[in-house]
Amino acid sequence: MSGNREQFGSKLGFILAAAGSAVGIGNLVGFPVGAAKNGGGAFLVMYAIFVFFICLPVMIAEMTVGRAGQKDPLGAYSDLSNKSGLWRIAGWLSIITPFMIAVFYLVITVWIFGYLVESVMGNLDVLADPSTFGTFINSNSLFLYMALVLLIVYLILQGGVKEGIEKAAKVLMPALFVMLVALVIFVLTRDNAIEGVKYYLIPDFSKINASVINGALSQAFFSLSLGMGIMITYGSYINKKANLPEASKLVALTDTAVAFTAGLMILPAIFSFNPEVDPNELSESSVSMIFSYLPQIFLELQSSLGYVGASFIASVFFLLVFFAAITSLVSIFEVPVASLMCEKEVSRKKALVVCGILLVVFSVMCALSFGFVDFFTSFVSYADQNKSFFDLVYDVFYDTILPLNGLLICLFVVYRWKKLAFNEELEQGAEDYKGSWLEKYVTFSLGTFIPSILFIIFINTVLQKYFGFALIG
Ligand code: PHE
Repeated sequence: MSGNREQFGSKLGFILAAAGSAVGIGNLVGFPVGAAKNGGGAFLVMYAIFVFFICLPVMIAEMTVGRAGQKDPLGAYSDLSNKSGLWRIAGWLSIITPFMIAVFYLVITVWIFGYLVESVMGNLDVLADPSTFGTFINSNSLFLYMALVLLIVYLILQGGVKEGIEKAAKVLMPALFVMLVALVIFVLTRDNAIEGVKYYLIPDFSKINASVINGALSQAFFSLSLGMGIMITYGSYINKKANLPEASKLVALTDTAVAFTAGLMILPAIFSFNPEVDPNELSESSVSMIFSYLPQIFLELQSSLGYVGASFIASVFFLLVFFAAITSLVSIFEVPVASLMCEKEVSRKKALVVCGILLVVFSVMCALSFGFVDFFTSFVSYADQNKSFFDLVYDVFYDTILPLNGLLICLFVVYRWKKLAFNEELEQGAEDYKGSWLEKYVTFSLGTFIPSILFIIFINTVLQKYFGFALIG
C-alpha cells in the first residue's frame, strides 16, 4: 500500500488541512472563555509559550515520524522500531485514541449542526430557552442530524487525501476565516464591546496557579491536535520536499491566531449584547457556553437588529463553529480509516464503511448517555462519582491517554528511532534546519523536559480522575 500512497497536492493544501484539524471547537469557544476567566493577558502569554516551546516540538516529531514511515501510525511505529512489541502498543494507542475521541467529538458536532439548522429555520427563540438543550440532546431528531453529519464526513473522506480532505480544507478554512473576521468586526463595532475586550485581555497574574497552568498546557496540546495520530497520518501524505519545521510553525501560528481572534468575538459579544452580564457567571465549559449561554446572547440582538437579524448572526456563528468542527472530525476519523486501509490493505470505501459502523455504534451509546438510557447515563463510577458512557470516553481518552501518547512520541523519536535518524529525516526539505538553534532546541526538549512534563500531567490525571486526589491543583 505504501508504494502508491496518496499525497496532498500542494504545500498550502497540507497546511490548510493540518490547520483545519487544529482549529476546532476548542479554539472558538474553549480558549476565549478559559483565557478570560484565568488571567486574561497573563493566560495568553503563558499559552503562547506552551504552544511554541512545548507543543511545537511534539508536532514536528509527529509529522516527521509520519513522513518517514509513509504509513499509518501503527505501521510507522512498527517499521521505525524494527517491529518492537512495545512500540506497537504506542502505535495501537495512536489509532484507538483518535477513534474514541472521534466518538465524542461527533456527538458535539451533531449538536452544533442541529443548532445551526434550528437557527437557520428561525427557531433562535426556542434555542435561547434554557430548557431546550436538555430536551434537544435527548430528542429523536438528533439521529437524523447524526446521519447527515456522517454523510458529510463520508463524502469528504471518500474523495481521498487530495480530492477530499485537501479540497474540503481549501473551501472550509478560508470561509471560516472570513466569517470569523466578519463577526469580530461586527461585534467590536457594537456599544460596550470594549468592556469585553478589557475582560479578555487585561492581565491578572494572581489567577495563575498550578491548575490553571496544567489546564493551559492541556488546552494547547488538544488544540494542536497532538497525541491523536493525526499529524503522523497527515505527515505520511507529504513528500520529502516539504519543509516540516516551517509547516508546523505555520499550523501552530494559525491555530493560536484563530483562538486569540475568537476571543475578540466571544467576550465583546457577551458584554455588548447583554450589558448586565456578570462575568463571574460565565460558564467554564464550552458545551454550556455554546448551547445555553450564547443563544440567549444572540437573542438579545433582537432589540437592535430585529429577530431575523439576530437569527442571521446566530446562524453565521453556528456555521463557523460547524466548519471548524467538521474539518477536525474529518482529520481525526481519517486516522482509523487510513490505518485499516494500510494494515489490512482494504479499499478506502471498505475502511470507511467498517470504521463508520463502529463509530455509529459508539456514538449512539454516547448520545444516549444524557438521560435517554439509564444504563449509559450511569455507566460506571470511580473516585466516588457516577459517570456516563460519554464521561468515561472523555476521561479515559481525552484527559488521560492524550498526554500519554505525547509522552510516547517524544521518547520514541529520541530514544528508539534516535536523534540522528530523526534529524536526517527532518532536514530533508529543510536545509536551513540543519545545525539551527531550533534543531538543537527540538532534540534537547523532546529528550528531556517535554516528556517529563507530560509524564507529570499523566500521573496527576490518573490520580485525580480515578483515585480522587491530585499532585497539582
Ligand atoms: N484541535 C481541535 C479543537 O481545538 C481538537 C480536535 C482535533 C478534536 C481533531 C478532534 C479532532 O477543537
